[in-house]
Amino acid sequence: MRAFVRRKSDPGGVEPADVPVPRHDDDELLVKVMAVGVGVHDPSFLPGDAGPCFPVGIEAAGVVERVGDGVHAYRPGDRVAFISAMQPKGGTWAEYAVVGADSPIVTIPAGMDFVEAAAVPVAGSTVLRAVQALDAGVPADGTLFVAGGSGAIGTLAVQVARSRGWRVAASASERNHDFLRALGAETAVDYHDRDWPDRIRRWRPEGVEAVIAVLPGTSAECLPVVRDGGVLVTVSGDVVTPERGVRVRVVPHDTDIREGLVRLTEEIARGDKRVEVERVHPFDEAPAALAKVRTGHARGKIVLRLDH
Ligand SMILES: NC(=O)c1ccc[n+]([C@@H]2O[C@H](COP(=O)([O-])OP(=O)(O)OC[C@H]3O[C@@H](n4cnc5c(N)ncnc54)[C@H](OP(=O)(O)O)[C@@H]3O)[C@@H](O)[C@H]2O)c1
Repeated sequence: MRAFVRRKSDPGGVEPADVPVPRHDDDELLVKVMAVGVGVHDPSFLPGDAGPCFPVGIEAAGVVERVGDGVHAYRPGDRVAFISAMQPKGGTWAEYAVVGADSPIVTIPAGMDFVEAAAVPVAGSTVLRAVQALDAGVPADGTLFVAGGSGAIGTLAVQVARSRGWRVAASASERNHDFLRALGAETAVDYHDRDWPDRIRRWRPEGVEAVIAVLPGTSAECLPVVRDGGVLVTVSGDVVTPERGVRVRVVPHDTDIREGLVRLTEEIARGDKRVEVERVHPFDEAPAALAKVRTGHARGKIVLRLDH
């Protein structure tokens, strides 16, 4: 089958390869991949013993081709979106992928296409985990600042926070400010503008209750806009020294977000929330798609589409 594997000359990149279709075990599904969500670190999320034929990629949407004898929740023909990280049998940038039945798997609601569905699992689950880490620290009418609001994670973070009743401010380049407001942000600031923290302070003079710092390196510059005793979640694992009683947390990975991901996907299918896909590339353009994501300026998600 066609797949993309880590480039031999440069493991940060990808190259096409012809690899065997993976074999599923009793507790696994084999999925015919129709669309793939592209993540900045996809070529890095590989098990240590991954060989040269190991497809990269951790999320996709497609049609269940076969299920193992121990799998009862899914049948061949089901449309599913899923996360399959560090899967010993290969990742999702391939015509077929194996996914464990206990992985985050969502039945794609009627009316949602594979491209939209493939854009939700990783960004959606990251937002749900980040919001969970904030929940106890943010009152019902609390305020949140999202650093990197127009990207894959930020667009969903703004909307999930709004649906909790939180008031939201977010950062992006100015060209994306109307877009941020359309997602529900009350205030949009440009991170290129050195004075953006003053604008947040004018919006909330005592500071915001919470921050989701999406892009690497944004946590330190966000700390001053958090009120005393507030909370900041770093999505990219920034290391910052807390001050004024502000709690700094990383996105937790030990929480089960499967039900939340199903709900979020259904909300998107109903039109209550939206998933932004800046561009859909044919599968053979995977290297260009990865390069675009790595610019740090994709609006929402970049997706690969496969034709079988
Ligand atoms: N912890 C986890 O589970 C997890 C899961 C997935 C991803 N991640 C991490 O999340 C990060 C990627 O998130 P993503 O996919 O949402 O990113 P993304 O889609 O690439 O984000 C792009 C957005 O960030 C904005 N941006 C660029 N530079 C910025 C800066 N200096 N300050 C503030 N905003 C800036 C861009 O705005 P403009 O284009 O408007 O300029 C654009 O809206 C990576 O570090 C990845 O490792 C973590």
